[in-house]
Amino acid sequence: RTAASVDAELKSLCAQVEACRKCPLGSQRLHPAFGVGSSSADVLFIGEGPGFEEDRQGEPFVGKAGQLLDKILASIGLKRQTVYIANVVKCRPMIDPTDPEKRGNDRPPSPDELEACRTYLEAQIRLVRPRFIVALGGVAAKTLLRTEDGIMRLRGRWHEFDPGGGLAPIPLLPTFHPAALLRNEDWKRDVWTDMKNLKKAMENES
Ligand code: URA
Repeated sequence: RTAASVDAELKSLCAQVEACRKCPLGSQRLHPAFGVGSSSADVLFIGEGPGFEEDRQGEPFVGKAGQLLDKILASIGLKRQTVYIANVVKCRPMIDPTDPEKRGNDRPPSPDELEACRTYLEAQIRLVRPRFIVALGGVAAKTLLRTEDGIMRLRGRWHEFDPGGGLAPIPLLPTFHPAALLRNEDWKRDVWTDMKNLKKAMENES
């Protein structure tokens, strides 16, 4: 495994996602938001799925929630270019797929869509092989941990993600989704606590 071979495999996986029609979202979206950042990142941040702005730009977390995520990263000295950012679903789920321009047209991915996209996410994680994963919000946390427990139960504690392929389990920390912080300021404290916890773990093992 070299950095170049990992990059090449990520590129080929991204091309597969571009051609994917395993669920209806593939033919509804403008661009998939495959992933962004460093393929040798220590930390992988995983959100739910692309929204309006991500669909236009083909990059995860570039809208309002993304701007807040950038600030959250900066609070512990991280940058979008030095971590890796992806979503559990690569294509934008819409409430009304006939009107992509309509505002307020984003929705969470369905169980079928999550299942269809899962192999891409798992391949992506096995390629990046981060030391830590941060699940942003309940959808990402539940999907990755295969649990019905909600974000209130899961957040703030370390869990383990099994990447398969004979690789060791990866410590996974669920926290609130940045979009949730835009709705409820009270949760910012908890995310700040979680980021300090992440930073400590990164320093401990490096
Ligand atoms: N919300 C997400 O979960 N992912 C994005 O990429 C943007 C907003």
